[in-house]
Formats: sequence, structure tokens, C-alpha cells
Amino acid sequence: MKFAFIVHPTSLEDVVRYEPGAVGKGRPLIEKIMEWMPPYAAVHVTGVRAPDGRETEGWFIAANFMPETMLALPRETVYGKISAAITLGGEFGAEIVGLGAFTGVVGDAGLTLAERSPLPLTTGNSLTIAAGVKSLLRGAREMDVELGTATAVVVGATGSIGSACAELLAPHVAHLVLVARNRTRLEKFGTSLRERVDCGVSLSTEVRDAVPRGDLVLTATSSTQELIQPGDLRTGAVVCELSLPHDVGRRVAVERPDVLVTEGGNMLVPGQPRFARVREPGRDFDLGLPPKTALACMSETMVLALEERREDYTLGRGIDLDKVREIDALATKNGFELATMRAFDAAVSPEQIAATKAAAAQRRLVRA
Ligand SMILES: NC(=O)c1ccc[n+]([C@@H]2O[C@H](COP(=O)([O-])OP(=O)(O)OC[C@H]3O[C@@H](n4cnc5c(N)ncnc54)[C@H](OP(=O)(O)O)[C@@H]3O)[C@@H](O)[C@H]2O)c1
Repeated sequence: MKFAFIVHPTSLEDVVRYEPGAVGKGRPLIEKIMEWMPPYAAVHVTGVRAPDGRETEGWFIAANFMPETMLALPRETVYGKISAAITLGGEFGAEIVGLGAFTGVVGDAGLTLAERSPLPLTTGNSLTIAAGVKSLLRGAREMDVELGTATAVVVGATGSIGSACAELLAPHVAHLVLVARNRTRLEKFGTSLRERVDCGVSLSTEVRDAVPRGDLVLTATSSTQELIQPGDLRTGAVVCELSLPHDVGRRVAVERPDVLVTEGGNMLVPGQPRFARVREPGRDFDLGLPPKTALACMSETMVLALEERREDYTLGRGIDLDKVREIDALATKNGFELATMRAFDAAVSPEQIAATKAAAAQRRLVRA
């Protein structure tokens, strides 16, 4: 069974990586050109092979907008282009379609698009949630964080990904701080979560008040601006970044050697995956990730194709945790693994983790 996955750039660096001719054109012009572009097949994915030999192939279909444009334009304009991209995926033979990045965020997280779609859809958020939580806990192990007394801050806690991550993290930590801007939604979620979990739960609408409290921080927001800066983070904090575009400012990489940042939503794809550019035969598409690596939301779509699941899977903001567990198990069965740690466009090596731990210990000593 074949799949399609709807993509769009999440930053100007993404645009230039795909189209070097865009350099120096200026953001307003690039945004306008993208708005006018009809959807097109950008990438042909082949070689995704489960350990038992089952294979799938698929297409990344570009529905080009910048994230900010997608949130600002009339909803119907955006839905129109995404729906056309889904139809195009069907013309290439796809039987399941993943909604990448903001195509799964805009509006009601895929529900309306699914009503109008001839093909089953998924946002890919279930596997992103499973990968994000595992990735944060892996970082905590690496940095020797004492989970039983730890505070975890979830930024974007009322979102599709953030709310489920908060619930899955709760049994591991002493305290959760949930962060989002809309207080009414935050209080509603906080109240319902407190009934289901044993750890302490507090709420904040201010990222910069909440983040300094976190031994662990997981970010999954729809913000198009950087939200976390070097001065916001606790000594030795572990940060799992799921947002695209990223929430963690690049200055953190330089100014906070004692903090471990890891992009949590990357998976190693089984087989010999190839991401070939459709319009430039012979050239591969640069996902900005190491070889054989894809985002967890892409991986969820691939897993559903390998499993021949012709059904809507993850849609809307109320995530079914049973589906998170199911897709996590199916991903493992099909040979997908959490990718090695990565942050700020580079791998995080074991030596770097050791240096981060040493810098955190040194900083604690100085403070003491
Ligand atoms: N790595 C991957 O494989 C992968 C896969 C799928 C999605 N993603 C990314 O994950 C992120 C979240 O997706 P989602 O589907 O969970 O989105 P969502 O359901 O729209 O949730 C977004 C959350 O962010 C909060 N938020 C937005 N702006 C904020 C700000 N300035 N400060 C604090 N909180 C803010 C929202 O609440 P308020 O509006 O109340 O603030 C909400 O809680 C997106 O960036 C998406 O591109 C990554």
C-alpha cells in the first residue's frame, strides 16, 4: 500500500534548502509566490522496508505556505490547497495521507479535512507523542535526572501533542507544569488531568515563568516565534523539542553548555529509504536530517501504509492514548527506531552529553 505526506516549509532555511534560487528574494515575495503555487509532488520515497520484507513507497506532496501564512489566511483558502494536495496524492496511488507540520495544526487538526477527503488521513501525532516522551526520558537518563523528584514543564500543554505527552509523562515525575496562553482551555485540561494522574499539576500562561522550574521541558506549540531563550532554563535541564518551527532559541546551543536539548520527533526508517526529488531526477531531497531519518509524523504514515491500514488514524486535538501505544508498537514491529539524539542541525554525541553533564555539575558547584 502506498502513502502520501503533505509537506510545506517551516522556515526560510527550508525554502532555500529545497530551492537555492530563493536566496536573497526577500520573505514577502517568497511568501506570495508560495501562496500562488498549486500543490505538486516534491519527493518520491522508496525503499522503506520492514524486517520481514514488506515494503511501501510514497510521495511528499508540497502544499506550500509558510506557517505564519497558514494561520493568517482564511481557513478555506488553506483547506482548499491541502485538499487539492490530498487528491494529488491519490492520483499517485496513495491510500493513506499524512498531514505534515502545520497542515495538521491548522483549524481542527485534520477533522474537517478528513470529512472532505476521498482518502483516509492522519496527522502523525500519535507516533510523535510516543517518540517525544521516549526521547525526553532518554535525555533524562543520560543526564542522571532523578525522575522521582523531577518537575516536567510541558509547553503547548493543551495541544494535540502536548496534552497527550503531559498525561504520559505524569507517572514518571513528581510534578507537571502545564503551559499555554488560553487560560480557560488550560484550566479545563488541568482539572481533567488532575483526576487521572497522581503527580502534582500546576498551570501557567507564561512560558518564561514556567520553564525555569523544569528539570525536564517538552515543547509542542504552534508558535511561529522562538519561545525559550538561554536565561530561561534551569541548570542541567533536559529539553525535548517537538515544535516545527522550533521553540528553543538557537542561542541556547552556544550560551547554555549545561543544558541538553534534543529534537524528539525523529525516527530511523527501516530498509534503504531514499527521498528522491521528483523535479530534479537523480537528486535527493534534503530533509535536514541524517540519512535514513524521517520525522515521527512521516513515520506514522509509513507504518500505516506498511500495515495496510486504510483508515483515518490520528485526527483532532483529543488524542486516544491507546492509539499512541498501538502505533508505537507497530512502529517497533516494522523496524522503526528512535533516531540518535540531535539538536540545532547536528548530532548530539556521547562526548557532548558527558560535557553537558560536567558543565551542569560545575555550574551547580559554583552556585552552591
Ligand atoms: N516532530 C514531528 O514529527 C512533529 C509532528 C507533528 C507536529 N509537530 C509540531 O508540533 C507542534 C504542535 O503540534 P500540535 O498538533 O500539538 O498543535 P496544536 O494542537 O495546535 O497545539 C498547540 C499548543 O501550543 C500552544 N501555544 C501556541 N502558541 C503558544 C505560545 N506562544 N506560548 C505558549 N503556548 C502556545 C497552544 O495553546 P494556546 O493557543 O492556548 O497558547 C496549544 O496548547 C507544531 O509545531 C507542529 O508542527 C511535529
